[in-house]
Amino acid sequence: MSLYWRIFLLNAAVLVVAVLLLLGPVTVSTPVLLAEAAVIGAGLAAMLIANAVLLRIGLAPLQRLTRAMTTADLLKPGARPVVTGRGEMAELTTTFNAMLDRLEAERATSSGRVLSAQESERRRIAQELHDEIGQTLTAVLLQIKHAADRAQEPVRGDLHQAQETVRASLDEIRRIARRLRPGVLEELGLHSALRALATEFTTPGLEVRLHIGPGMPPLGHVTELVFYRVAQEGLTNTARHSGASRVELHLRTLPGGGVGLLVRDDGKGIGSAPEGAGIRGMRERALLIGADLTVGPGRDGGTEVRLDVTDPKGNT
Ligand SMILES: Nc1ncnc2c1ncn2[C@@H]1O[C@H](COP(=O)(O)OP(=O)(O)OP(=O)(O)O)[C@@H](O)[C@H]1O
Ligand SMILES: [Mg+2]
Repeated sequence: MSLYWRIFLLNAAVLVVAVLLLLGPVTVSTPVLLAEAAVIGAGLAAMLIANAVLLRIGLAPLQRLTRAMTTADLLKPGARPVVTGRGEMAELTTTFNAMLDRLEAERATSSGRVLSAQESERRRIAQELHDEIGQTLTAVLLQIKHAADRAQEPVRGDLHQAQETVRASLDEIRRIARRLRPGVLEELGLHSALRALATEFTTPGLEVRLHIGPGMPPLGHVTELVFYRVAQEGLTNTARHSGASRVELHLRTLPGGGVGLLVRDDGKGIGSAPEGAGIRGMRERALLIGADLTVGPGRDGGTEVRLDVTDPKGNT
């Protein structure tokens, strides 16, 4: 039944009962007697309550739909309001669900384009840092060394100092380039890349434990890149925000044949901190390969980032 008829019939039912009561046992004198006024007042209150209750029941699906619209998040896809009843309400919910399907598909396509553009831009910058600035600094380093070999003290000492500074900059540039373009991922695969990440994030105050499960199936190229970037952001967040002394990085097979990545630290926990560009970026990447991403409190405190993909060979 349409919403229009449902509301009309609800109101009509209440009004008909009121009229039947007036035609039947209720009499109204002029001026109204106190007892009659009390009966009419009680009748009115009963009608209003009945109307309110019936309207609430009639409009409940609309409220459910409003709630679903308010909480819909394209970065957490899959949640849909249940289609109940028939007529306009069911049609509205079905249309809303179809709209969410379309928006989620479009979002996945557009974030795929953005992310691949971002990756190729990172690769280009890394290449330029390596080829241009890296080569120039290497040449400067050699020139300083050459000059230092021929110079007398104290200039020689100063030149050695300059040499160390340039060498440190060169290392820094190589490190930035490596982060921008995970060459080790392209050349040696995800396992080696995760090992390199674990080493990179290990400091005297933070122990990184890497566990790679046995019998891991091969992953598609895009899937590997997504796993790498999520691990990188998870470890960066641990190092920056958690105050943890230990973080575990697990890559393992899932019972249904999928593959999961887990970054779990023993830090202060994420609490109710709002999601920033880092976590949103992880969600966008997870969407790209149809993976589930959850970021939340860990089993024994701390923070846990889980990325589970059911079709690891897709997106080659
Ligand atoms: N492992 C963690 N432990 C504690 N808090 C965390 C952890 N990871 C994230 N957070 C909290 O969640 C917030 C959002 O993280 P997110 O990575 O989205 O943004 P960000 O790290 O602040 O900035 P960026 O865009 O550079 O990543 C952080 O500011 C931090 O408060
Ligand atoms: Mg971050």
